[in-house]
Amino acid sequence: MHCADTSAIRGRFLDIQQTVSQPEEIAPQIRYIEDGLLLCKAGKIVWFGAWADVDPTLIDGLAIAHYPDQLITPGFIDTHIHFPQTEMMGAYGEQLLSWLNNYTFPTEIKFKDKAYADQIADFFVNELIKNGTTTALVFCTVHPESVDALFEVAARKNMRLIAGKVMMDRHAPEALCDTAESSYTESKQLIEKWHEKGRALYAITPRFVPTSTDEQLSLAGKLKQEFPTVYVHTHLSENKDEIAWVKSLFPNHAGYLDVYHQYGLTGQRSVFAHCIHLEDDEWQCMHDTDSAIAFCPTSNLFLGSGLFSLRKAWQKGVKVGLGTDVGGGTSFSQLQTLSEAYKVQQLQGDKLSAFEAFYHATLGGAKSLDLDDRLGNFSVGKEADFIVIDVNATPIQQLRQSHAKTIEDSLFALFTLGDDRNIVATYIDGQKVYSA
Ligand code: GUN
Ligand code: ZN
Repeated sequence: MHCADTSAIRGRFLDIQQTVSQPEEIAPQIRYIEDGLLLCKAGKIVWFGAWADVDPTLIDGLAIAHYPDQLITPGFIDTHIHFPQTEMMGAYGEQLLSWLNNYTFPTEIKFKDKAYADQIADFFVNELIKNGTTTALVFCTVHPESVDALFEVAARKNMRLIAGKVMMDRHAPEALCDTAESSYTESKQLIEKWHEKGRALYAITPRFVPTSTDEQLSLAGKLKQEFPTVYVHTHLSENKDEIAWVKSLFPNHAGYLDVYHQYGLTGQRSVFAHCIHLEDDEWQCMHDTDSAIAFCPTSNLFLGSGLFSLRKAWQKGVKVGLGTDVGGGTSFSQLQTLSEAYKVQQLQGDKLSAFEAFYHATLGGAKSLDLDDRLGNFSVGKEADFIVIDVNATPIQQLRQSHAKTIEDSLFALFTLGDDRNIVATYIDGQKVYSA
């Protein structure tokens, strides 16, 4: 009676039922089902609840994947990452601007070669999946081939991925520059080719203000007007030298964010990576335009960029997702990223609770990408992207977990000590795409 596209998963489930506007509201929304069942059909969740409440006819004849000792959660969402920088993670000794010139630009030049882009795109998507990341917002390079390479791999996995071609027409090597006109035309072609095709979504991707002329930013804004459902993805206020440079390039603007804002690049589907050094009027603009921040702690520490305050973002009512920012970031793992996120708050005298951390990696990330109606928890009707986690993946984790008395403490230990070794299986679109 069931089609082959129906899958049934039994185990311990954890998710967050509703999005929130304050961190204290998260704990009451935590849904923990010690023995539950998830039914998926055609990539969507069709039933979710306690095993004791399952009507036997619902699972008649179905093979059930049972994970009695594991924790099943929604897939992690990475709201900022660069696939072409995979090979240059851990590049020594520089802050942002010299890091870009010395390491990043020479690496990105290689992605003109489609075969090379295919090879790294494949490696990259596998790395996401083995780390439990089922959706990501991704920078490609200036080359349209790099976008094709990534979306082709994602399509083979039915993965919900948002990506776009970098727009960059100055202050970079010539081999990496487009022109205002070509960036517009190529981005438009890529939107028509990929946006809302299967699970792919397109992001207009100016690299950051210093590498675009005003003409290019203006055409980026025109594209957003022509295709209002596409995303805008860029960097903002990461590094003090970068901010000073923007101010010298655009002296007639109120500040860094004002440049994007005046060109129509803020909004509900705009995601700005970093936002470490925002001024008060910029926080206000982020809030008023419902723009989102990608908080990338491993990158912010590695590049010495600064400490992002989650408390401030909650206070200002600005959406935040978690980003790895590979290759400025040092790990593909959202678990390791959360561990660093906690330490970044500690250095500012603030706390990041386990439940808040879990929110940023799942439902809160979905909200920051304006996808909380489709992703982020186990609500019926949502897309079936989820992961199976072993909280006891190493001897030290077993020892620590044996002393955890609550699910909150167990989760906190997972975030602090965990990495890709904890991911037992990854399901995308209802299908198992990875198993350890
Ligand atoms: N700002 C402009 N380009 C980049 C990049 O590739 N990585 C980071 N972290 N910041 C940027
Ligand atoms: Zn970045």
